[in-house]
Amino acid sequence: MSDEPRPDHPPRTAAVIPAAGRGVRLGPGAPKALRSLGGTPMLIHAVRAMAQSRAVSLVVVVAPPDGATEVKNLLAEHALPGDAPGSGWAGADLLVVPGGDTRQESVSRGLDALPDWVTDVLVHDAARPLVPVETVDSVIEAVRDGAPAVVPAMPLADTVKEVEPAPDGAPEPVVATPERSRLRAVQTPQGFDRDTLVRAHREVRVGGEGATDDAGMVERLGVPVVLVPGHEEAFKVTRPLDLVLAEAVLARRRATDGY
Ligand code: C5P
Repeated sequence: MSDEPRPDHPPRTAAVIPAAGRGVRLGPGAPKALRSLGGTPMLIHAVRAMAQSRAVSLVVVVAPPDGATEVKNLLAEHALPGDAPGSGWAGADLLVVPGGDTRQESVSRGLDALPDWVTDVLVHDAARPLVPVETVDSVIEAVRDGAPAVVPAMPLADTVKEVEPAPDGAPEPVVATPERSRLRAVQTPQGFDRDTLVRAHREVRVGGEGATDDAGMVERLGVPVVLVPGHEEAFKVTRPLDLVLAEAVLARRRATDGY
């Protein structure tokens, strides 16, 4: 069903933003998505990054389970692309739903909230607030051109080792060294034909902390996943040093293009 053309339905894209994580690796404090970057919560940057694409008709924010009201208030306080009167552009609609215990559950709850008219879905981490709109548009374009699952990705700078994990900083035996030129680090937004992603979330069971990557679930269905070039500014804000880098990127954008 998922790869049949649907000529009677024009493509309409929604972006689901899982933002329900605690962000413990960033240190103590508010949920990661609500922490400030350049004076504005990280989540607002992420929502703006999605809404900046004219192809995105709806943004679904998956809020911390006890933070849906706070998130709604935040969204109401901050201007979004398309808000400017007389711009001739209605911008994207917004929905806020409560998240779950794992990223995978949070994304599922976002998918459950999608209206019928949505044909394509982006899933974008709130923790990647600075992804450029060109990356968002290139993912959407590849999905609309017929790819059921599209992931922005970057080559790796570091060589990667597979290990037998050991606890508490103990030396870890190396199991393998994959060839670096064949590896990519994946980013978001990941783009999907809606039916394919919904089927993956319904059928694929992942143990432990759940899936950290939606495309990985689609792979398990046997559906092909393709990569398009990612962007270095689409990095994930995970550790304290990432915040320093994100502030520097924002400061440069403000200085050069009045962002
Ligand atoms: O923890 P990690 O950095 O992999 O989280 C990626 C994204 O998933 C973040 O935007 C985070 O807010 C979100 N998440 C979520 N619900 C959870 C855990 C993580 O929405 N229970």
